Amino acid sequence: MFTSRRSFFAMCGAIVFPGVSLGEIIRTPWQGEGPFYPDRIPEDTDNDLVKNGHSTIEAGGKILNLMGSLVNRDSKPIKGMTVEIWQTDMNGVYLHTGSFRSKMRDDQFQGFGRSITDKNGHFSFRTIIPVEYPGRTPHIHLKLLNESENVLTTQLYIQGHPLNKEDFLFKQMTKGEQKINSMKLIKNNSTEYETSAILVV
Ligand SMILES: [Fe+2]
Repeated sequence: MFTSRRSFFAMCGAIVFPGVSLGEIIRTPWQGEGPFYPDRIPEDTDNDLVKNGHSTIEAGGKILNLMGSLVNRDSKPIKGMTVEIWQTDMNGVYLHTGSFRSKMRDDQFQGFGRSITDKNGHFSFRTIIPVEYPGRTPHIHLKLLNESENVLTTQLYIQGHPLNKEDFLFKQMTKGEQKINSMKLIKNNSTEYETSAILVV
């Protein structure tokens, strides 16, 4: 459990939809899954991607505590859904045999993880700040599953990243969608960042 999680979620009720004016509810847009959903699901699929399996060595990169809320269009929390994320390591390498630069993969990075929403619709991950790779602005892939039904597939971006405006998938979204799919990174302490994400389905 992240130390800041409780205080963040206590604030959540007041924030509701950061950056979106009250009364305006935008559904989280679908975005392509892309070719790099892991072709081998790792043994460790927990929500801490910085620690892989029994290794005590942490992954390289800047640590990001991602705290999310899943709600329906009436802003009611949705519990019991599986949230999956996958992203490259700090070298821009996916957990996929077809990934570019695969020889540079950081084995300490789990590359993929799952979190199940609690009764308040909350989920969380400890991961790294995504990095750019050829052809893409930094992003985290996210898939939402209700048992085996795919409820949402999308991608989360870094708010204000200079490469966003050139990214073919970022540009496909409306301004409002870009806003809700962009993570505002807040520095927690000298080594870790945190961010919040709200998914609306
Ligand atoms: Fe990607």
